[in-house]
Amino acid sequence: MSVDLLLGLQWGDEGKGKIVDLLTESYDIIARFQGGPNAGHTLEFDGIKHVLHTIPSGIFHPSAINLIGNGVVIDPVIFKKELEKLSPYNIDFSTKLFLSKKAHLILPTHRLLDAASEASKGKGKIGSTLKGIGPTYMDKTGRNGMRVGDILTKRWKDSYKALTQKHLKMLDFYNVDLEYDLGELETQFFESIESFKKCKIVDSENFLNKAQEAGKKILAEGAQGSLLDVDFGTYPFVTSSTTTAAGACTGLGIAPNRIKEVFGIFKAYTTRVGSGPFPTELFDDVGKRIAKIGNEFGATTGRARRCGWIDLVALKYAIQVNGVTQLMMMKGDVLSGIDTIKVCNQYKTEHGVIHHFPFDINNESISPQYIEIPGWKEDITQVNLVEKLPKNFIDYIKFLERELDTPIKIVSVGPDRKQTILR
Ligand code: GDP
Ligand code: IMO
Ligand code: MG
Repeated sequence: MSVDLLLGLQWGDEGKGKIVDLLTESYDIIARFQGGPNAGHTLEFDGIKHVLHTIPSGIFHPSAINLIGNGVVIDPVIFKKELEKLSPYNIDFSTKLFLSKKAHLILPTHRLLDAASEASKGKGKIGSTLKGIGPTYMDKTGRNGMRVGDILTKRWKDSYKALTQKHLKMLDFYNVDLEYDLGELETQFFESIESFKKCKIVDSENFLNKAQEAGKKILAEGAQGSLLDVDFGTYPFVTSSTTTAAGACTGLGIAPNRIKEVFGIFKAYTTRVGSGPFPTELFDDVGKRIAKIGNEFGATTGRARRCGWIDLVALKYAIQVNGVTQLMMMKGDVLSGIDTIKVCNQYKTEHGVIHHFPFDINNESISPQYIEIPGWKEDITQVNLVEKLPKNFIDYIKFLERELDTPIKIVSVGPDRKQTILR
């Protein structure tokens, strides 16, 4: 009776989708616990690339049940489109895709409020995905939100109208130019919400706890990354949910003592999309090369991802906060051909050298200090055994393992499901 947990250790896009898809064959249930369609989780197999936003990454496996937990926020319009994209695969959503009654709904006006809030911030904007995430979680904690279970009641449209009216007044307050046709957005919203009926709507915390008692294996799937956590991330340039391990407990109704393995995923370098501090960011040709070879464009917004060297100060912090038991290193293949790889192992600040992740990591006050590691020339994308990896690549992995004091159990060398090496 235990639950394993998989989450990102950096600023998101570590490759969570790929690994959840890969691990699903060992689990009965895959449960997303936070975030919403700000996520873009990519899976690749049989020559086809799939991007999921709300639906858990175990959906392509015939046996697993995929559950969208209470901690997730769902935009019915995006959700319906995701279901439609999956239609060629003949998935029976009524038995394979479960929605928590307690998951909150992203209303059309939440998206408008997100856009207005960002526009009003000017240069100081968060760089939100504009999916309405912040305003929806604000309504959740402000105790005004609407939940999936509400749509099963008769009066839910009255509550919808009252909340929308409030949002329109808030939009007036922002006083920014936004063009929208609320009538059209609402028609789409109400049509899309019907698609929920294709799935099973459940009391997810009861379902998951009963499944545990029955000996089912559960994998909790995180979205975003630890450095985007609302408490522990680079606030205020974060998302609005708990992306770290504790979020799996509140986002699914799973007790902390049931969590067993915590799989932490990281890239062999670092990326960030949106605004906010990023000490090891590269602005030179190496950064451009990583972006190009790594195809670093956001899976949700298509924006270019900022790229930089790996940051052990930040990674150690994320491992600590999450209680990571096993690591998975992604995209090592992207570094092939770089003569010298740099690894940040401490920050120089105005108060001296530090090894811990400080309160404020804004770029002016922090200068990352690096160790240099010799690179490898070989293309490793077709390697499938550890023994066949170049020596310098293995040395890089072993160096990181020692520094992070946690075993690296999976090494990914390409986007495809098959391009994965178990250690
Ligand atoms: P997620 O949000 O954590 O699921 O990650 P994303 O899907 O947003 O971004 C990861 C990107 O890297 C996707 O385009 C994946 O197909 C790709 N990817 C995953 N693992 C590897 C890898 O080992 N090597 C390469 N080159 N690409 C990878
Ligand atoms: P996955 O699950 C990378 C970033 C946005 C922005 C900040 C706040 O694919 O790893 P929000 O829309 O949540 O209000 O945006 O968080 N962000 C992500 N960056 N991957 C994601 O998800 C992200 N989800 C949000 O770019 O900087
Ligand atoms: Mg992503």
